[in-house]
Amino acid sequence: MEIPSNCILIIFGASGDLAKRKLIPALFSLHIQNRLPEGFAVLGIGRTPLDDTAFRERLSKQVHEFYSGAVDAEAWSAFSQRLFYLTMSPENAEDYPQLKERLAQLDAEYKVGGNYIYYLSIAPSVYGTIVTNLGKQGLQKEESCTQCWKRLIIEKPFGYDLASGQELNRKVLKVFREVQVYRIDHYLGKETVQNILVFRFSNGIFEPLWNRNFISHIEITAAEKAGVEGRGEYYDSAGVIRDMVQNHLLQVLGIVAMEPPASFQADTVRNETVKVLSALRPIRPENIESQVIRGQYVSATIEGQKVRGYRDEDKVPPYSRTETYIAMKLFIDNWRWGGVPFFIRAGKRLPTRVTEVVIHFKPTPQILFEDHDAPAQSIPNQLIIRIQPNEGILLKFGMKLPGAGFQVKTVSMDFHYANLSDTHVPEAYERLLLDCMLGDATLYARRDAVESCWEFIDPILRKDAENLESRIFSYPAGTWGPRQANDLFNGYSDGWRSPCKNLAQDGQYCEL
Ligand SMILES: NC(=O)c1ccc[n+]([C@@H]2O[C@H](COP(=O)([O-])OP(=O)(O)OC[C@H]3O[C@@H](n4cnc5c(N)ncnc54)[C@H](OP(=O)(O)O)[C@@H]3O)[C@@H](O)[C@H]2O)c1
Repeated sequence: MEIPSNCILIIFGASGDLAKRKLIPALFSLHIQNRLPEGFAVLGIGRTPLDDTAFRERLSKQVHEFYSGAVDAEAWSAFSQRLFYLTMSPENAEDYPQLKERLAQLDAEYKVGGNYIYYLSIAPSVYGTIVTNLGKQGLQKEESCTQCWKRLIIEKPFGYDLASGQELNRKVLKVFREVQVYRIDHYLGKETVQNILVFRFSNGIFEPLWNRNFISHIEITAAEKAGVEGRGEYYDSAGVIRDMVQNHLLQVLGIVAMEPPASFQADTVRNETVKVLSALRPIRPENIESQVIRGQYVSATIEGQKVRGYRDEDKVPPYSRTETYIAMKLFIDNWRWGGVPFFIRAGKRLPTRVTEVVIHFKPTPQILFEDHDAPAQSIPNQLIIRIQPNEGILLKFGMKLPGAGFQVKTVSMDFHYANLSDTHVPEAYERLLLDCMLGDATLYARRDAVESCWEFIDPILRKDAENLESRIFSYPAGTWGPRQANDLFNGYSDGWRSPCKNLAQDGQYCEL
């Protein structure tokens, strides 16, 4: 187990939601596993007036709610001694000399030798200003010490559209070099997403089939059961395309569809995902209506409880046209995937919370044996990669039913991560924070990947913004979205897979 060099993690926005829910619990978990270096400190930054003690006390209360296991009091006490706080306004350039001074103190105390990670866990509107202010103090410079490093982690969203994404990259790269920049997409930190790489490239049996000759189509679903839950203001300005598709789902697509990298170096792997993203066939304005289905949930009763529609959520305008559901059909124009449609969907207030990739293999050329449950059809061979929850992989194939004749039934072979009971499956933020400390950017998005995603998404966003008549379909909360989303499939199958047909089993493995 490689332990990172001593370093300080500076969290801008340390009084906020992400810090308490994800970052501090992830760091605490790394502390418990002895994965943090001996000399390690966190410096939280925010306008909220706190001192070190108040910051620690606040997090001590919150950690019980957000850490996934039982909090060992002794371990927490030792860990919390590494937490510090500086009250300052990140937007105010005059506050940065005191940041520099505080860092110098902690640097000497923890012997970190100038290794700093700046984590922008703050409103995206201030990303650019913070980077500029760090630059004014030379806090990004690596020449100021021998063999030290300075890294910058940027939370999504990386911009609001193509132009603002490019502008943010320009601002950041005026101060930091690309190798110092770590754009975090927590989906890439998930074990099951990384396992797609291992599954594809460490087994000889699947990769020969992984192309247009054997695969008929691929589905990627990211469904959320929850609504906007108090984040109406943010959500209404973003919508599900920006919130889920532009980043998480296109990154997953990049991994599912990439060519084998020549080695497992950060840039070699990322070169391959960028090739996929830049080969996405642009959806022409006249095809948007037929290839992209937008939806918005309306009030319904779920499990006996009345649920509000999106337009009735707090801080959502009553005539909002923001989509809470999206389904799209897209193509990758290269030799491996020519003609294979990829169906992507994401949404809120769907029947269950699930993220999965479904690889649909082509049917046999002749139907010798019919599916017992679906006569006149060949056996559907599907490979289902469940990203969350109940992470695992399942392969569906036909088996003969015992007895007379040749009745065939679809059965499954599956692997569940939960069965690896003695192995700690790290949270995405644990893995990604550790990777950044180790200087491994493989699972972080590079500038060209982010901009390729925006290039693909931008025309869709622009068409919706310009055309107030563009279609947005309603769907009752608790259902799988507008029925029009099934029309995307014409000719390929009956429509989307229903990952969890039985709501009473929600949270269980259901069909997987
Ligand atoms: N929360 C999540 O689950 C989540 C998930 C994925 C990505 N993200 C991204 O992570 C970042 C942080 O998210 P968050 O939910 O933690 O945000 P947040 O709670 O709204 O904000 C974090 C902190 O930033 C400071 N802040 C907010 N607006 C500011 C402004 N205009 N100028 C200066 N400081 C400001 C506030 O601290 P002070 O008032 O003390 O300065 C606040 O406590 C965002 O970019 C978000 O998109 C969050």
